[in-house]
This record gives sequence, C-alpha cells and structure tokens, in this order.
Amino acid sequence: MNQERIPTGVAGLDRMVRGGLLPSSVVLVRGAAGTGKTSLAFQFLIEGARRAECGLFITFEEFPGALYRDAESLGLDLRGMEEQGLIQIIFTSPEVLLKSLENPQSIIYRRLMQADVRRAVLDSASHFTRLTDDRLELRRIYTTLVNSLRREGITTLLLSEERRTDSLRAERGALSFLADGIILMRYVEVESEIRRAIVVLKLRGSDHDREIRDYEIRQGGLRVGDVFQGRHGILSGISHRS
Ligand SMILES: Nc1ncnc2c1ncn2[C@@H]1O[C@H](COP(=O)(O)OP(=O)(O)OP(=O)(O)O)[C@@H](O)[C@H]1O
Ligand SMILES: [Mg+2]
Repeated sequence: MNQERIPTGVAGLDRMVRGGLLPSSVVLVRGAAGTGKTSLAFQFLIEGARRAECGLFITFEEFPGALYRDAESLGLDLRGMEEQGLIQIIFTSPEVLLKSLENPQSIIYRRLMQADVRRAVLDSASHFTRLTDDRLELRRIYTTLVNSLRREGITTLLLSEERRTDSLRAERGALSFLADGIILMRYVEVESEIRRAIVVLKLRGSDHDREIRDYEIRQGGLRVGDVFQGRHGILSGISHRS
C-alpha cells in the first residue's frame, strides 16, 4: 500500500522507515545527552518548513537564542524559518504545557490546533518525571500528552533522555507503549573510539529496518551511514567483534 509519509529530513533515517514517519504519529526519540536528539528535531521541523508544513518546537530546555545558535552551528536556518512563520518556538514548563493541553482556550492549545501546523517537537518529554513520583500519575500525564499531540494531521517527535535513573525508567515504561514509534540513538565504543548508532525499535503500522546503523553529526545535521558490520553488543554501548 502506498501510504503518505512524513520525511524526517534525515535521508538515511527516512530510508530506514520506508520514506518517512506515518502522518499523525507520535514518535519517541531516545538517546543520551549529546547523541543528537535536538539536531534531529531541527532537521525534522526544517524539512517540514521546506514543504510549507508549519512546525512547533516546544522546549523546556533552551531559550530560542540558544536554539538558533545550535542550529546555525549545523548550518540550519532555524531563525529564518521562524521569521517566516514556518516554525514557532514555544519555551514553557511541563506544568504549563500540561495545563494548556487540557484547556482549549490556552495559547499553546490554540497553536497546536492551527490547521497549518503539521509537525511538532517536544524537547524533552523526560521533564515530566519531575512532576510526580507516582508511576500511575506519570502514566496519566503521558497519556494526556500523547493523546493531545496525536491529533489529525500533526506528526510529533517526543525527545527523551536515556539515563539509568528510576524516574526515567518509569518514563520509558509508559512512553514506549504509548508512542507509535521509537528511534534509539546510542554512543558505541569501538576500538577505543566513540561512535554513534541509530536504530528504529518500533514503528506501528509500517515496515522498517531492524539494522543498527552508524551516523555522524556534521554540517547539515545527522548523516546516517552503514550497518555496523561484524559487531555485536552495540546496544550495550560497548561493541565486540563477532
Ligand atoms: N556543527 C557541528 N559539527 C559537528 N558536530 C556537532 C555540531 N554541532 C553539534 N554537534 C554534535 O552534536 C552534539 C549535540 O547534539 P544535540 O544537542 O542535538 O544532542 P542532544 O541529544 O539534544 O543532547 P542533550 O540531551 O544534551 O540535549 C554535540 O555534542 C556535538 O557532538
Ligand atoms: Mg537536546
């Protein structure tokens, strides 16, 4: 079946997911600090902007100025896209976002519902773990979040920090089930060198690569390369020759 796809803007990743993400899906992008989650998110929104699909960058982490600078260092013109109204940056807190998603009168809710908004990014979903220690409550929060974002015509990347703390484990448990897809980004130690690996763990309603590929971050953003050949243990972070 020839389904409409939403290209991520990273050519090699799009090949891994048969052309792009499915429209209206919520995809979790999991990775440790510095693996390139935010860079991937820039590419996703800029690819949308090129296609006149407006995007929202909802961030709890960085002021717009810092985001412009980071994007610029990759050769990506986030500021220009925002000036043209193709990308909107919303700097907020988990508390305000959650309240806004439950209130159709709120500014954030109204922005999400704008018909021309087709893509969204949340950087990062991990911040909700600060709101509660209760797993059921956290699950309720993530259900509200995912259901609000999964509206007709909007495709979302939920960025998620990969750390081995209890609260982040609870987050992973809840979000991994709720999300339509999971993209995992990892550091891998190969012969005393740190390389980067990317794999699609899940993509509801679509075929996808099961292979683990390496990628680099450079001018233009993420560049996905070859399958890690002749190695195993890559997802453990330290690979061995097979
Ligand atoms: N212009 C550039 N050229 C090469 N590599 C770059 C460039 N800009 C950023 N990087 C690499 O990208 C990494 C940061 O990527 P990014 O901010 O997207 O990661 P992240 O997963 O969002 O991290 P965090 O969890 O800290 O937010 C840097 O640590 C650096 O290795
Ligand atoms: Mg980031």
